[in-house]
Amino acid sequence: MKALFLVGGRGTRLRPLTNKIPKPMIPIMGKPLLERNILNLKNVGIEEVVLSTCYGAQYIQRYFGDGERFGMKIHHVKEDRPLGTGGAIKNAEKYFDDTFLIFNADIISDIDLKELIKYHREKAADVTIAVTQVDNPSMYGVIEYDENNYAISFKEKPQPHEITSNFINAGVYIFEPKVLKEIPAGCVVSVEREVFPQLIEKGYKIAVYKGCSYWIDIGTPEKYLQAHMDIMAGKYRISGLSFSGKGIYKGPGSDIHSSVKIYEPVYIGANVKIEENASIGSNVIIGDNVHIGKGVKIVGSIIWDGVVVENGARLVNTIVASNCRIRHGGDYYSTVYVEEDSRPMAI
Ligand code: GDD
Ligand code: MG
Repeated sequence: MKALFLVGGRGTRLRPLTNKIPKPMIPIMGKPLLERNILNLKNVGIEEVVLSTCYGAQYIQRYFGDGERFGMKIHHVKEDRPLGTGGAIKNAEKYFDDTFLIFNADIISDIDLKELIKYHREKAADVTIAVTQVDNPSMYGVIEYDENNYAISFKEKPQPHEITSNFINAGVYIFEPKVLKEIPAGCVVSVEREVFPQLIEKGYKIAVYKGCSYWIDIGTPEKYLQAHMDIMAGKYRISGLSFSGKGIYKGPGSDIHSSVKIYEPVYIGANVKIEENASIGSNVIIGDNVHIGKGVKIVGSIIWDGVVVENGARLVNTIVASNCRIRHGGDYYSTVYVEEDSRPMAI
C-alpha cells in the first residue's frame, strides 16, 4: 500500500515558526515532523510515499529527495498554486491504482494503521476517515455518522450552534482509487468541504474509524508545545526515546558541566555544550549544536538547532527557532523567539 501526505499548506497559524521552514519540517524532539510520520509507516510495511507539496516545496524536496536515505521510495508532486486538499489529492492521482492512505501532515497520532486498514475492508467502504474526540471542535471538521458508523454529514470549522458532534476529522483517510474520478482536475477543491459531502450524495460509502487514543494537530505554537509536553509525559511514544514524566536523553558529543542541574524529563541533542550552574528542566527539549551559557535557566521550553543562549538568560515556556542568539540576561516567558530583529511573539 502507498501513502500520500498533504504537505502544501501555508502553516499560517504556526507563524512565526513557519516563517522560514514549511510546517511539516518543524522539529518534533529534534527531527522533522514529516520524517517521523513517514518513518512510522515503515513499521506497517509501507515503503512508498507521495508528498503533495506547494509552500516550501523545494525545502521538502531537498531534505527527502527520492527517499533512499530513509529506506523509502518518495515521490514529490508540486503544485504551482495551492489546489486545496481535494485538488492536491487529485493532482497525485497517477500514483494510485489501489487502496491508499492519505495524511494531513501536521498531526501526531498513535492510530493503529493495520486496524484502520482492516476496518476499511470490513466496512467495504470507498473512503474511511479516522475521527477523534476533542473538547472544542470549532477549529476542525465535525463529522456526523449513523448507527453503523458511516458518515452522514460534514461541517468544516463549525460555528458554535453548528457543533452537533465532538467527533472530528483526524486528518487520516483511506481512499479507494475509484473515488478520485469524482474530483475535478486542475482546480481548487477542498476534500472536507466539497469532496466528502459530494461522495455521500452520490451514494459512496464513507466509514468513520474511532481508533486514535492520542491525537494532536500541532497547528499553533501552543499545540506544538503541548505535543512535546505530552511526549515528555509518556502520552505519545517516539521510537528510540522513552519518557514517562521522567527520563533524560543525551545525544552524542554533549558537554555538560558537572555543576549543571538537570530536572527530568529533558532531551538534549547532539553536540550541546552547557556551562557552569545552568539549570535545565523540567520539560526541556534542546536540539543539536546548541551552546548554553553560565547560570542560564530553562524550563518547559523547546530550543531548536544551532541556538546560543548567553550567560544568565531565562527561558520559560518558550520556543527558540534555529540559529537564534538569546542575549546575556534575556528573560522570555511564553514566547516564540525566531530572530533578533523581529519582536518575540507571545504564546
Ligand atoms: N498540497 C497541498 N495543497 N496541501 C495542502 C493544501 C494545498 O492547497 N492546503 C492544505 N494542505 C495540507 C496542509 O499542509 C495540511 O497538512 C493538510 O493539508 C490540512 O490542512 P490544514 O491547513 O492543516 O487544515 P486544518 O488543520 O485547518 O483542518 C484539517 O485538519 C483537521 C485535523 O487536523 C481538516 O482536514 C479538518 O477537517 C481536520 O479536522
Ligand atoms: Mg492542520
